[in-house]
Amino acid sequence: MSLTGNAKLAGIAGWPVGHSLSPRLHAYWIAEHKLDAAYVPLPVRREDFASAVALLPKLGFRGLNVTIPHKEAAFALATEHDEAATATGAVNTLVFENDRIIGKNTDVAGVIGMLRDAGITSLKSQNVFVGGAGGAARAVVFALTQLKASRIWIVNRTRSKAEELATLFDGRNGTRVEATYPTDKVNLIINATSVGMAASMEKPAEPADTYHVVPKCDVAADIVYRPLETEFLAGYRARGSKTIDGLGMLLHQAVPAFAAWFGVEPRVTTALRAHMLAALKG
Ligand code: ATR
Repeated sequence: MSLTGNAKLAGIAGWPVGHSLSPRLHAYWIAEHKLDAAYVPLPVRREDFASAVALLPKLGFRGLNVTIPHKEAAFALATEHDEAATATGAVNTLVFENDRIIGKNTDVAGVIGMLRDAGITSLKSQNVFVGGAGGAARAVVFALTQLKASRIWIVNRTRSKAEELATLFDGRNGTRVEATYPTDKVNLIINATSVGMAASMEKPAEPADTYHVVPKCDVAADIVYRPLETEFLAGYRARGSKTIDGLGMLLHQAVPAFAAWFGVEPRVTTALRAHMLAALKG
């Protein structure tokens, strides 16, 4: 569909941004809902981000997704934050409304949506082991407390960050969060590190051999979607666990952002997943 002079605009700011699948994803929903709208990649250098955020609302942009290296700057530039952004201290979505800049963390909804697709709507009496303590791990741990997990153990290469994250969420919604290897049965294991990404040649430093630490669990999930089946997931699949790949998180985190900018709540369907799988392969 061609754009009119009143088209609603949004985009993703990052450096680099060329690898992002978000333009493909939002274009699918824009076409599906026949919207007069566009979602564009915005290659923005770190030093230009603040001026871009000052200017884009004046150019008619409804908001932005932000990716590396702008997540901290986005949090600082937001004039207000939603609950998930406040709780995690991380922002991946900005919504421009008049003079307001609303910072949102839709990764939390992404994690909840990805688990819901696998039939997990509550983690009551369930124990979870999380690898990683970066921005994505913060969203994961907050989402797990919202689903009322019983216990969460976090291990990260940089131990102090795992301790910080555990302290931040320990006791929330009755969930016990500790920065240690598991000391009891693990029902769900989640890789929230960037280890396993096609671009990363590094071998995991910590948690090192999760199969040794957690040889069995009901479900294993990864936030990495490139490749779709990481070594981590393949290992747990071979051990009989149900596995959840990272594509679901990517799709679900986009839902509240699209709704906030364009006023339509889009759906994550099997057709969308197939479309994005083709984009991943292409
Ligand atoms: P994101 O926003 O995707 O979470 P991030 O905040 O940079 O990105 O976090 C990346 C995560 O992957 C961190 O937990 C990082 O560990 P450190 O906190 O020690 O940096 C983890 N990570 C990245 N490469 C790793 C590797 N080779 N081994 C173990 N952990 C790794």
